[in-house]
Amino acid sequence: MTSRPDRYAVIGHPVAHSLSPRIHTLFAQQTGEALEYTAIDVPPERLVHDVRDFFADGGRGLNVTVPHKQAAMSLADELSARARRAGAINTLAMDAASGRLEGDTTDGVGLVIDLTGNLGVPIGQRRVLLVGAGGAARGVIEPLLACAPGELVIANRTVERAAQLAREWSADGPVRAASLDLPDEQAPFDLIIQATAAGLAGEMPLLPVRSVGSATVCYDMTYGREESPFLRWARRAGATRCHMGLGMLVEQAAESFRLWRGVRPHTAPVLAALRASGQR
Ligand code: ATR
Repeated sequence: MTSRPDRYAVIGHPVAHSLSPRIHTLFAQQTGEALEYTAIDVPPERLVHDVRDFFADGGRGLNVTVPHKQAAMSLADELSARARRAGAINTLAMDAASGRLEGDTTDGVGLVIDLTGNLGVPIGQRRVLLVGAGGAARGVIEPLLACAPGELVIANRTVERAAQLAREWSADGPVRAASLDLPDEQAPFDLIIQATAAGLAGEMPLLPVRSVGSATVCYDMTYGREESPFLRWARRAGATRCHMGLGMLVEQAAESFRLWRGVRPHTAPVLAALRASGQR
């Protein structure tokens, strides 16, 4: 009798566009791990039911994406310290021995590994601008501050949300809030990370051109087939080092895979395969 491979999936709504099944299938082939990974569309009203069902039926792990990253926290029996602080999870893992469901987030570490490892962008002592103060921004503040930037400015359309985040992380490093017009910043930043949802509507947060110089690394946490409105603007403003978030996606996936299987896949060949099919 052949046993069924361990089952994993990404849940989101919508989720059909997700690259996670392709990424994890490539990871499984590369590492020889016997697993299957699918995408499951879960509308918010079915979240509790469908997650419980998945694990009751023997599922081993889930990735959690928009719009469930915050709501799914309450389904975990245990949360990692970083997930608790981020206020979101992107990974659920069933511990077979204890039967307990563990929630974690690998988004922030995925971003930092892509920046510092894949792209060779230093963060230590650099001036970093994080644009956005929603769930996506929250999830990356702790790992960014752990890299000891010279300063981290969080700019948001609604300034009070940025101020709230700056207060929450004030003990972790030099972090402060600003409005999108950045009235106190005269020199270009070393690194700008776009973490708003504006691109989904074909828009971008309205930043001043002086925030960007030719040496500024501009990074958009979203991915797709086209460069985002923010990166198109950054190029026009003079930036030459512009990156979409495909590497962050693959690195957070590798960290989830490691949590589930105890082995970290090589990400470079997977990133290359995705780029070869037009993703960025
Ligand atoms: P996510 O989980 O994707 O971060 P969210 O928590 O709803 O989603 O946060 C969305 C973020 O995108 C916020 O920072 C939001 O700014 P506000 O806090 O002022 O709402 C930002 N955002 C969305 N559309 C935007 C736009 N057109 N211009 C600038 N910022 C935008």
